[in-house]
Amino acid sequence: MRAKFQGKEINIRKIGILTGGGDCAGHNAVIYGLLRRINQANRTLPDGEKMELIGLLGGWKALTRDPEGERDQIMVKLSTADLKDSFKVAGTIIKSSRTNLFSKENLEKKAPEKAMENLKKLGIDCLVVLGGDDTLGAAGKLGQQFTFPMFGAPKTMDNDVYGTDRTYGFDSAVAESVHFIENIITTSRSHNRCFVVEVMGRHAGWVALQAGIAGGADIVLLPEEVVDMRAVIKRVEMAMQIQKYCVLVVSEGARLFDTRYPAEVNASNQKMLEAVIADPKYALVKARHELPRKKDSFGNEQLGGIGEYIFSLLEKNTKGIQYRLQNCGHAIRGGIAHVSDRILGLRFGDAIFDFILQGKFGAYPGLKGDEIVASDLLEVKGGKFVPATHQLYKMRNAVEFY
Ligand code: F6P
Repeated sequence: MRAKFQGKEINIRKIGILTGGGDCAGHNAVIYGLLRRINQANRTLPDGEKMELIGLLGGWKALTRDPEGERDQIMVKLSTADLKDSFKVAGTIIKSSRTNLFSKENLEKKAPEKAMENLKKLGIDCLVVLGGDDTLGAAGKLGQQFTFPMFGAPKTMDNDVYGTDRTYGFDSAVAESVHFIENIITTSRSHNRCFVVEVMGRHAGWVALQAGIAGGADIVLLPEEVVDMRAVIKRVEMAMQIQKYCVLVVSEGARLFDTRYPAEVNASNQKMLEAVIADPKYALVKARHELPRKKDSFGNEQLGGIGEYIFSLLEKNTKGIQYRLQNCGHAIRGGIAHVSDRILGLRFGDAIFDFILQGKFGAYPGLKGDEIVASDLLEVKGGKFVPATHQLYKMRNAVEFY
């Protein structure tokens, strides 16, 4: 297909596509949305202009490999048969990795140059990158550095990417978390227990907020709020007193300490934590606390574990309450792709084809209201957090509404 790129006419025949970062529901739908349009266009295109969609396997990692020796491990030609059913499930049929072409180590190895050489060796005429802000940002940089036609689509269960009202993957993660929370509620009610349920979402509390409220949790703790354990304890005691059970949902990015917190809150949380750490019963918390935090290749801290702190702080500072801890873990981003993520993914894939037709290179689609808009890969930004002014933020602790 002929398209205008940087004032020149180019012939796009092989479209590469890759998925980077943590997987989520909707990746396969985006791929299918794009493939449908390619197939449709191919019906009327002359032979020399027919297009193929090539899946690059394992995210950016594919482009760091040797295309001569490892072609089968690097790429696969995608067909309708690959996607007709799989667009309905989570995960990615073309695999993913957290490879960062622009990490210090990869820059020393000249990974961006190698990636570009490999794209040429594989005959890829333009590249579509599906991922969060890190993956999309790398696409923007690579496209700019080597004047290569790039597109993207914003994924992530965390829902923290700017340029779209919603990322695909988010709704499914919320729905799966709601299911998890509802299951926990029935058992916590039967045993008059208090459950602490941790959910992923990185430093944005969107998943915990929506899932906690929709699932009927009593208390929701977010990365965006000041977590004052004294107040949390009071809420738990209140829920236990009123209904004899309590479900507290904590977002993995929630913190006990933060420079934004009043010093007095940090000090009070610290005092409570010290008491827990000194207690041999909580040796696991002590061990976790002393472990250095791991980081991924983009420098993002590996989160997870706050639930254990909250659990032990509650157990240590209340009387007569039985606690249990559960972590939803990765399960909430797997399984099926719920309807809204199938639809959003298909729409994004469809929109990318329109961007190619319209010569909107370097763009990624976003949802604004019910419209698809084009955002610039060079300006992609993460860190879209729950604002304190958000209606749901104020509704997060159901226990306060008895
Ligand atoms: O960014 C998506 C996400 O699921 C986060 O919510 C979570 O912190 C992270 O990925 C987990 O990463 P990994 O899959 O590498 O364990």
